[in-house]
Amino acid sequence: MHRAAPLLLPLPAGDIHLWFCPRGESGDPALEATYRALLTPQELQQKDRFHFARDRHRYLLTRLLVRSVLSRYAPIAPQDWRFASGPFGRPRIDGPALEEIRGLDFNLSHTAGLIVLAIARGIELGVDVENIRRSAVLEAVDHFFAPSEAKSLAALPAASQPHRFFELWTLKESYIKARGMGLQIPLDSFAFALDSPEGIGFALADPHGNAAWHFQQLEPTPDHMVALCSSVDAHIVCRETAPLQWERQMEVRTTRASRISPLSPIPPS
Ligand SMILES: CC(C)(COP(=O)(O)OP(=O)(O)OC[C@H]1O[C@@H](n2cnc3c(N)ncnc32)[C@H](O)[C@@H]1OP(=O)(O)O)[C@@H](O)C(=O)NCCC(=O)NCCS
Repeated sequence: MHRAAPLLLPLPAGDIHLWFCPRGESGDPALEATYRALLTPQELQQKDRFHFARDRHRYLLTRLLVRSVLSRYAPIAPQDWRFASGPFGRPRIDGPALEEIRGLDFNLSHTAGLIVLAIARGIELGVDVENIRRSAVLEAVDHFFAPSEAKSLAALPAASQPHRFFELWTLKESYIKARGMGLQIPLDSFAFALDSPEGIGFALADPHGNAAWHFQQLEPTPDHMVALCSSVDAHIVCRETAPLQWERQMEVRTTRASRISPLSPIPPS
């Protein structure tokens, strides 16, 4: 039986839609075959380069998630989206040339158990998710964090340090990803202050740099922490999906946000 395509979702200016996709380790073979049929030959080749089955499955699921979710915002079939990469690997939409895709952008992140896809129109954005049940790499804090971040983390009781580590890590990744430049941005050239319980302070070492970025932090499951960086103070709408199977709205509380505390000057020295 022919199934009607779902109605297109409105994406008002100022909204960021976050799509959460629970990530199983292996797929149902019939569903995987449907998924594979929607990927390009290059994507299938890329998938087969992964050594482990779980990575091949994650690659397939991620591509399908992006293609099927983008098709909720424009009258384009999942297999027809085209993508290009920026100079530092940030993927972006490259077609088809339709008015409905003007300004449409996405960023995604994956970790054990979850993929997160952020979609917006006319907003620069970056998203990061981490599984907070994995061990925090506390011995590498001086390498990854700005001195003010490392100092505030070290001042916490030992039991609170892993959670703070993941808060800082996801926030830093979200900023790097919104800028699209990867680790070209030195990790100590910007810093977060998380001293107030629900706020996020942000500052750049360069006093002339643009520090007008907005951050939000969410904990969509007890195992996962998400940070979102955006060029505007966005309203977030969350949905959960298994691509081509089901989708539903999801209530996710914002645990921290820039708007709760004004930007605080933290000299990242
Ligand atoms: C590549 C990088 C953008 C993110 O890597 P990551 O955290 O390992 O991976 P994530 O799951 O969050 O994001 C991966 C996705 O980001 C997107 N991406 C790739 N390059 C990107 C870039 N330059 N900018 C933004 N997004 C990018 C892709 O969609 C990618 O998905 P894919 O792997 O399925 O192709 C980059 O920030 C990096 O290399 N980080 C290394 C980790 C590190 O040392 N972090 C220190 C933080 S304190």
